Amino acid sequence: MPWVVREAVRDINRAVGRRWRAIDPLLPDPGTLPAGCGAPLVVTGDNGRMAGLGVCVHQRIPPQSLNQTWGAADRFTLVPRLPGQDIAASAGLLLSQWRDHLAGIGAARGPDTSASVVWPSLDISGIQALLRHGLQPLTVIAARTRPNGPPSPPRRAFGATIRPAGPADEERVLDLELRLIRYDLHFGGPVWREATARLVRDEVRASLTKTDPWTWLAERNGRAVGLLVAQPPQEAGWIAGMTSKSPAAYLQTMFVDAQERGTGIGAALVRNLHVRLDGMGVAATLLHHSQVNPLSAPFWYRMGYRPLWTSWEARPASALR
Ligand SMILES: CC(C)(COP(=O)(O)OP(=O)(O)OC[C@H]1O[C@@H](n2cnc3c(N)ncnc32)[C@H](O)[C@@H]1OP(=O)(O)O)[C@@H](O)C(=O)NCCC(=O)NCCS
Repeated sequence: MPWVVREAVRDINRAVGRRWRAIDPLLPDPGTLPAGCGAPLVVTGDNGRMAGLGVCVHQRIPPQSLNQTWGAADRFTLVPRLPGQDIAASAGLLLSQWRDHLAGIGAARGPDTSASVVWPSLDISGIQALLRHGLQPLTVIAARTRPNGPPSPPRRAFGATIRPAGPADEERVLDLELRLIRYDLHFGGPVWREATARLVRDEVRASLTKTDPWTWLAERNGRAVGLLVAQPPQEAGWIAGMTSKSPAAYLQTMFVDAQERGTGIGAALVRNLHVRLDGMGVAATLLHHSQVNPLSAPFWYRMGYRPLWTSWEARPASALR
Protein backbone atom coordinates (compact mmCIF):
# COMPACT_ATOMS: atom_id res chain seq x y z
CA MET A 1 0.00 0.00 0.00
CA PRO A 2 1.55 3.38 -0.98
CA TRP A 3 2.51 5.74 1.87
CA VAL A 4 -0.23 8.36 1.09
CA VAL A 5 -2.92 5.66 1.11
CA ARG A 6 -1.57 4.22 4.37
CA GLU A 7 -1.80 7.69 5.96
CA ALA A 8 -5.37 8.14 4.71
CA VAL A 9 -6.37 4.72 6.06
CA ARG A 10 -4.82 5.59 9.43
CA ASP A 11 -6.75 8.90 9.56
CA ILE A 12 -9.98 7.08 8.69
CA ASN A 13 -9.39 4.49 11.38
CA ARG A 14 -8.77 7.23 13.97
CA ALA A 15 -11.95 9.07 12.99
CA VAL A 16 -13.94 5.80 13.12
CA GLY A 17 -12.50 5.19 16.61
CA ARG A 18 -13.72 8.63 17.78
CA ARG A 19 -17.18 7.91 16.35
CA TRP A 20 -17.39 4.49 17.97
CA ARG A 21 -16.31 5.81 21.37
CA ALA A 22 -19.02 8.46 21.22
CA ILE A 23 -21.67 5.90 20.24
CA ASP A 24 -20.80 3.11 22.66
CA PRO A 25 -17.91 2.99 25.16
CA LEU A 26 -17.93 -0.82 25.04
CA LEU A 27 -16.80 -0.80 21.38
CA PRO A 28 -13.07 -1.39 20.87
CA ASP A 29 -10.73 0.77 18.79
CA PRO A 30 -11.12 -0.27 15.17
CA GLY A 31 -8.37 -2.77 14.43
CA THR A 32 -6.10 -2.61 11.42
CA LEU A 33 -7.95 -3.74 8.34
CA PRO A 34 -7.55 -7.43 7.46
CA ALA A 35 -6.25 -8.48 4.07
CA GLY A 36 -9.25 -8.82 1.81
CA CYS A 37 -10.11 -11.08 -1.11
CA GLY A 38 -9.55 -8.14 -3.50
CA ALA A 39 -8.42 -4.51 -3.46
CA PRO A 40 -10.07 -2.40 -0.70
CA LEU A 41 -13.40 -0.87 -1.72
CA VAL A 42 -13.06 2.91 -1.52
CA VAL A 43 -15.85 5.48 -1.09
CA THR A 44 -14.90 8.86 -2.52
CA GLY A 45 -16.43 12.04 -1.05
CA ASP A 46 -17.70 15.06 -3.02
CA ASN A 47 -14.28 16.71 -2.57
CA GLY A 48 -12.62 13.75 -4.30
CA ARG A 49 -10.95 12.52 -1.10
CA MET A 50 -11.30 9.09 0.48
CA ALA A 51 -14.50 9.19 2.59
CA GLY A 52 -14.50 5.60 3.75
CA LEU A 53 -13.41 2.16 2.82
CA GLY A 54 -14.17 -1.49 3.28
CA VAL A 55 -12.50 -4.84 2.86
CA CYS A 56 -14.23 -8.03 1.76
CA VAL A 57 -12.96 -11.10 3.63
CA HIS A 58 -13.70 -14.56 2.22
CA GLN A 59 -13.64 -17.61 4.49
CA ARG A 60 -14.23 -21.14 3.21
CA ILE A 61 -15.14 -23.29 6.22
CA PRO A 62 -14.24 -26.97 5.75
CA PRO A 63 -16.89 -29.67 6.46
CA GLN A 64 -14.72 -31.25 9.17
CA SER A 65 -14.85 -28.02 11.19
CA LEU A 66 -17.66 -27.51 13.72
CA ASN A 67 -17.63 -23.88 12.62
CA GLN A 68 -19.48 -24.98 9.45
CA THR A 69 -22.50 -25.75 11.65
CA TRP A 70 -22.65 -22.11 12.76
CA GLY A 71 -23.30 -20.68 9.29
CA ALA A 72 -22.74 -20.94 5.55
CA ALA A 73 -19.76 -22.85 4.13
CA ASP A 74 -18.51 -19.84 2.11
CA ARG A 75 -18.68 -16.62 4.13
CA PHE A 76 -18.07 -13.19 2.66
CA THR A 77 -17.75 -10.48 5.31
CA LEU A 78 -17.50 -6.78 4.64
CA VAL A 79 -15.32 -4.93 7.17
CA PRO A 80 -16.34 -1.26 6.83
CA ARG A 81 -14.55 1.87 8.02
CA LEU A 82 -16.90 4.83 7.63
CA PRO A 83 -15.84 7.93 9.54
CA GLY A 84 -17.91 10.83 8.17
CA GLN A 85 -21.10 12.65 9.05
CA ASP A 86 -23.28 11.14 6.35
CA ILE A 87 -22.93 7.45 7.23
CA ALA A 88 -26.20 6.53 5.52
CA ALA A 89 -24.93 7.77 2.14
CA SER A 90 -21.40 6.34 2.41
CA ALA A 91 -22.72 2.99 3.70
CA GLY A 92 -25.03 2.84 0.67
CA LEU A 93 -22.14 3.53 -1.72
CA LEU A 94 -19.90 0.97 -0.02
CA LEU A 95 -22.59 -1.73 -0.02
CA SER A 96 -23.26 -1.15 -3.75
CA GLN A 97 -19.55 -1.60 -4.49
CA TRP A 98 -19.44 -4.74 -2.38
CA ARG A 99 -22.48 -6.21 -4.18
CA ASP A 100 -20.74 -5.59 -7.54
CA HIS A 101 -17.50 -7.09 -6.19
CA LEU A 102 -19.30 -10.28 -5.05
CA ALA A 103 -21.12 -10.55 -8.39
CA GLY A 104 -17.70 -11.13 -9.99
CA ILE A 105 -16.73 -14.00 -7.64
CA GLY A 106 -17.84 -17.49 -8.67
CA ALA A 107 -17.68 -18.89 -5.13
CA ALA A 108 -20.22 -16.26 -3.97
CA ARG A 109 -22.94 -17.58 -6.28
CA GLY A 110 -23.59 -20.97 -4.64
CA PRO A 111 -26.46 -21.83 -2.27
CA ASP A 112 -24.26 -22.42 0.79
CA THR A 113 -22.92 -18.85 0.99
CA SER A 114 -23.50 -15.75 3.06
CA ALA A 115 -22.64 -12.07 2.86
CA SER A 116 -22.48 -10.33 6.23
CA VAL A 117 -21.56 -7.07 7.91
CA VAL A 118 -20.98 -6.83 11.65
CA TRP A 119 -22.28 -3.39 12.62
CA PRO A 120 -22.25 -1.65 16.04
CA SER A 121 -25.74 -2.29 17.44
CA LEU A 122 -26.06 1.26 18.81
CA ASP A 123 -25.02 2.89 15.51
CA ILE A 124 -28.42 3.39 13.96
CA SER A 125 -27.10 5.61 11.16
CA GLY A 126 -26.45 2.83 8.64
CA ILE A 127 -29.48 0.61 9.25
CA GLN A 128 -31.57 1.96 6.35
CA ALA A 129 -28.69 1.23 3.95
CA LEU A 130 -28.21 -2.30 5.31
CA LEU A 131 -31.93 -3.05 4.93
CA ARG A 132 -32.09 -1.54 1.45
CA HIS A 133 -29.32 -3.87 0.31
CA GLY A 134 -31.21 -6.97 1.44
CA LEU A 135 -29.30 -7.64 4.67
CA GLN A 136 -31.16 -9.01 7.71
CA PRO A 137 -30.20 -8.51 11.37
CA LEU A 138 -29.58 -12.16 12.25
CA THR A 139 -27.29 -12.42 15.24
CA VAL A 140 -26.38 -10.14 18.12
CA ILE A 141 -23.25 -10.11 20.23
CA ALA A 142 -24.54 -8.96 23.61
CA ALA A 143 -22.37 -7.79 26.51
CA ARG A 144 -22.61 -7.57 30.27
CA THR A 145 -20.14 -5.51 32.27
CA ARG A 146 -19.12 -6.29 35.81
CA PRO A 147 -21.42 -4.48 38.25
CA ASN A 148 -19.83 -2.03 40.71
CA GLY A 149 -21.59 -3.39 43.79
CA PRO A 150 -20.98 -6.75 45.47
CA PRO A 151 -22.09 -9.74 43.37
CA SER A 152 -25.63 -10.91 44.04
CA PRO A 153 -25.79 -14.51 45.30
CA PRO A 154 -26.93 -17.15 42.77
CA ARG A 155 -30.71 -17.31 42.65
CA ARG A 156 -32.11 -20.65 43.73
CA ALA A 157 -34.49 -22.44 41.41
CA PHE A 158 -36.98 -24.47 43.47
CA GLY A 159 -36.03 -28.14 43.56
CA ALA A 160 -33.12 -27.71 41.13
CA THR A 161 -29.43 -28.09 41.82
CA ILE A 162 -26.50 -26.81 39.82
CA ARG A 163 -23.25 -28.69 39.61
CA PRO A 164 -20.12 -28.64 37.46
CA ALA A 165 -20.15 -31.28 34.71
CA GLY A 166 -17.34 -33.80 34.30
CA PRO A 167 -16.30 -36.57 31.86
CA ALA A 168 -19.13 -38.87 33.05
CA ASP A 169 -21.69 -36.31 31.81
CA GLU A 170 -20.78 -36.57 28.12
CA GLU A 171 -24.20 -37.96 27.03
CA ARG A 172 -26.19 -35.47 29.12
CA VAL A 173 -24.22 -32.46 27.88
CA LEU A 174 -24.28 -33.70 24.27
CA ASP A 175 -28.05 -34.20 24.38
CA LEU A 176 -28.66 -30.65 25.64
CA GLU A 177 -26.13 -29.15 23.18
CA LEU A 178 -27.81 -30.88 20.20
CA ARG A 179 -31.27 -29.83 21.36
CA LEU A 180 -30.06 -26.22 21.48
CA ILE A 181 -28.72 -26.43 17.91
CA ARG A 182 -32.01 -27.97 16.70
CA TYR A 183 -33.91 -25.16 18.41
CA ASP A 184 -31.61 -22.51 16.90
CA LEU A 185 -32.11 -23.96 13.38
CA HIS A 186 -35.48 -22.16 13.37
CA PHE A 187 -33.76 -18.79 13.29
CA GLY A 188 -31.66 -19.13 10.13
CA GLY A 189 -28.25 -19.11 11.84
CA PRO A 190 -26.84 -22.64 12.19
CA VAL A 191 -26.96 -25.30 9.49
CA TRP A 192 -27.26 -28.97 10.45
CA ARG A 193 -24.36 -30.76 8.73
CA GLU A 194 -23.65 -34.43 8.23
CA ALA A 195 -20.81 -34.18 10.76
CA THR A 196 -22.56 -31.92 13.30
CA ALA A 197 -23.45 -34.52 15.97
CA ARG A 198 -20.01 -36.15 15.79
CA LEU A 199 -18.14 -32.84 15.93
CA VAL A 200 -20.22 -31.59 18.87
CA ARG A 201 -19.50 -34.86 20.69
CA ASP A 202 -15.76 -34.44 20.04
CA GLU A 203 -15.89 -30.89 21.39
CA VAL A 204 -17.93 -31.88 24.46
CA ARG A 205 -15.58 -34.77 25.22
CA ALA A 206 -12.47 -32.63 24.86
CA SER A 207 -13.89 -29.89 27.02
CA LEU A 208 -15.17 -32.19 29.79
CA THR A 209 -11.75 -33.76 30.25
CA LYS A 210 -10.21 -30.40 31.18
CA THR A 211 -9.41 -29.86 34.85
CA ASP A 212 -12.01 -27.10 35.09
CA PRO A 213 -14.41 -27.48 32.13
CA TRP A 214 -16.57 -24.36 32.80
CA THR A 215 -19.67 -26.47 32.05
CA TRP A 216 -22.57 -26.62 34.51
CA LEU A 217 -25.67 -28.78 34.59
CA ALA A 218 -28.95 -28.02 36.33
CA GLU A 219 -30.74 -31.10 37.61
CA ARG A 220 -34.28 -31.55 38.82
CA ASN A 221 -35.55 -34.88 40.15
CA GLY A 222 -32.27 -36.46 39.06
CA ARG A 223 -32.65 -35.33 35.42
CA ALA A 224 -30.29 -32.94 33.62
CA VAL A 225 -32.64 -30.12 32.57
CA GLY A 226 -30.31 -27.17 31.97
CA LEU A 227 -26.84 -26.53 30.57
CA LEU A 228 -24.48 -23.57 30.64
CA VAL A 229 -21.03 -23.61 29.00
CA ALA A 230 -18.65 -20.65 29.19
CA GLN A 231 -15.09 -19.76 28.26
CA PRO A 232 -12.79 -18.03 30.76
CA PRO A 233 -10.71 -15.09 29.45
CA GLN A 234 -7.76 -17.34 28.55
CA GLU A 235 -10.03 -19.19 26.05
CA ALA A 236 -12.07 -16.20 24.89
CA GLY A 237 -9.25 -14.38 23.08
CA TRP A 238 -10.93 -15.10 19.71
CA ILE A 239 -13.78 -12.68 20.61
CA ALA A 240 -12.21 -10.44 23.28
CA GLY A 241 -11.22 -7.84 20.63
CA MET A 242 -14.90 -7.06 20.07
CA THR A 243 -15.00 -4.94 23.23
CA SER A 244 -12.89 -2.23 24.86
CA LYS A 245 -13.25 -3.96 28.25
CA SER A 246 -10.65 -6.45 29.37
CA PRO A 247 -10.48 -9.20 30.44
CA ALA A 248 -13.49 -10.60 28.61
CA ALA A 249 -15.16 -13.99 28.96
CA TYR A 250 -17.60 -15.71 26.60
CA LEU A 251 -20.88 -17.44 27.39
CA GLN A 252 -21.09 -20.17 24.78
CA THR A 253 -24.17 -22.34 25.47
CA MET A 254 -27.37 -21.86 27.43
CA PHE A 255 -30.30 -24.25 27.27
CA VAL A 256 -33.17 -25.25 29.54
CA ASP A 257 -35.52 -28.15 28.82
CA ALA A 258 -38.81 -26.80 27.34
CA GLN A 259 -40.91 -28.32 30.18
CA GLU A 260 -38.77 -26.58 32.82
CA ARG A 261 -38.58 -23.07 31.35
CA GLY A 262 -39.85 -20.08 33.30
CA THR A 263 -39.11 -21.66 36.68
CA GLY A 264 -35.81 -19.91 37.43
CA ILE A 265 -33.34 -22.55 36.18
CA GLY A 266 -31.83 -20.33 33.47
CA ALA A 267 -31.37 -17.45 35.91
CA ALA A 268 -29.82 -19.74 38.52
CA LEU A 269 -27.28 -21.10 36.00
CA VAL A 270 -26.37 -17.62 34.78
CA ARG A 271 -26.08 -16.09 38.26
CA ASN A 272 -23.89 -19.00 39.32
CA LEU A 273 -21.52 -18.08 36.45
CA HIS A 274 -21.74 -14.34 37.15
CA VAL A 275 -20.66 -14.80 40.77
CA ARG A 276 -17.56 -16.57 39.50
CA LEU A 277 -16.84 -14.03 36.74
CA ASP A 278 -17.36 -11.02 39.01
CA GLY A 279 -15.24 -12.61 41.72
CA MET A 280 -12.30 -13.10 39.34
CA GLY A 281 -12.53 -9.54 37.95
CA VAL A 282 -13.82 -10.30 34.45
CA ALA A 283 -14.74 -6.87 33.03
CA ALA A 284 -17.11 -7.97 30.26
CA THR A 285 -18.94 -11.14 29.30
CA LEU A 286 -19.98 -11.59 25.68
CA LEU A 287 -22.43 -13.98 24.06
CA HIS A 288 -24.16 -14.54 20.73
CA HIS A 289 -27.91 -14.78 20.42
CA SER A 290 -30.24 -14.84 17.49
CA GLN A 291 -32.01 -11.54 16.99
CA VAL A 292 -35.23 -13.38 16.15
CA ASN A 293 -35.16 -16.01 18.92
CA PRO A 294 -38.21 -14.91 20.96
CA LEU A 295 -36.88 -16.47 24.18
CA SER A 296 -33.28 -15.36 24.26
CA ALA A 297 -33.32 -11.53 23.97
CA PRO A 298 -35.82 -10.97 26.84
CA PHE A 299 -33.94 -13.47 28.99
CA TRP A 300 -30.46 -12.05 28.34
CA TYR A 301 -31.53 -8.45 28.83
CA ARG A 302 -33.16 -9.48 32.13
CA MET A 303 -29.78 -11.02 33.08
CA GLY A 304 -27.93 -7.72 32.52
CA TYR A 305 -26.79 -8.07 28.88
CA ARG A 306 -27.35 -5.53 26.10
CA PRO A 307 -26.63 -5.44 22.34
CA LEU A 308 -23.07 -4.55 21.27
CA TRP A 309 -22.73 -5.78 17.66
CA THR A 310 -25.38 -6.90 15.20
CA SER A 311 -24.49 -9.23 12.36
CA TRP A 312 -26.45 -8.32 9.22
CA GLU A 313 -26.57 -11.14 6.75
CA ALA A 314 -27.77 -12.06 3.26
CA ARG A 315 -27.99 -15.79 2.67
CA PRO A 316 -27.15 -16.89 0.05
CA ALA A 317 -24.63 -14.16 -0.69
CA SER A 318 -26.36 -13.49 -4.03
CA ALA A 319 -29.38 -12.16 -2.04
CA LEU A 320 -27.31 -9.01 -1.44
CA ARG A 321 -28.83 -6.36 -3.69
C1 LIG B 1 -33.59 -18.65 27.31
C2 LIG B 1 -33.77 -19.74 28.37
C3 LIG B 1 -32.40 -20.35 28.66
C4 LIG B 1 -34.30 -19.09 29.66
O1 LIG B 1 -34.29 -20.05 30.71
P1 LIG B 1 -35.47 -20.13 31.81
O2 LIG B 1 -35.10 -21.17 32.79
O3 LIG B 1 -36.79 -20.28 31.12
O4 LIG B 1 -35.40 -18.67 32.45
P2 LIG B 1 -35.84 -18.29 33.94
O5 LIG B 1 -37.11 -19.00 34.30
O6 LIG B 1 -34.69 -18.48 34.86
O7 LIG B 1 -36.12 -16.74 33.78
C5 LIG B 1 -35.25 -15.73 34.29
C6 LIG B 1 -35.89 -14.38 34.15
O8 LIG B 1 -36.03 -14.06 32.77
C7 LIG B 1 -37.40 -13.89 32.45
N1 LIG B 1 -37.61 -14.55 31.16
C8 LIG B 1 -37.10 -15.74 30.74
N2 LIG B 1 -37.51 -16.01 29.49
C9 LIG B 1 -38.29 -14.97 29.14
C10 LIG B 1 -39.03 -14.65 27.96
N3 LIG B 1 -39.00 -15.44 26.91
N4 LIG B 1 -39.74 -13.50 27.94
C11 LIG B 1 -39.73 -12.65 28.99
N5 LIG B 1 -39.05 -12.89 30.15
C12 LIG B 1 -38.35 -14.04 30.21
C13 LIG B 1 -38.17 -14.60 33.54
O9 LIG B 1 -39.46 -14.05 33.71
C14 LIG B 1 -37.29 -14.36 34.74
O10 LIG B 1 -37.51 -13.05 35.23
P3 LIG B 1 -37.54 -12.75 36.83
O11 LIG B 1 -36.10 -12.82 37.25
O12 LIG B 1 -38.13 -11.42 36.93
O13 LIG B 1 -38.36 -13.83 37.46
C15 LIG B 1 -34.77 -20.83 27.92
O14 LIG B 1 -35.97 -20.20 27.50
C16 LIG B 1 -34.26 -21.70 26.78
O15 LIG B 1 -33.56 -22.68 27.00
N6 LIG B 1 -34.63 -21.35 25.54
C17 LIG B 1 -34.26 -22.16 24.39
C18 LIG B 1 -32.78 -22.07 24.09
C19 LIG B 1 -32.31 -20.65 24.00
O16 LIG B 1 -32.98 -19.78 23.50
N7 LIG B 1 -31.10 -20.44 24.51
C20 LIG B 1 -30.46 -19.18 24.46
C21 LIG B 1 -29.68 -19.16 23.20
S1 LIG B 1 -28.68 -17.73 23.09
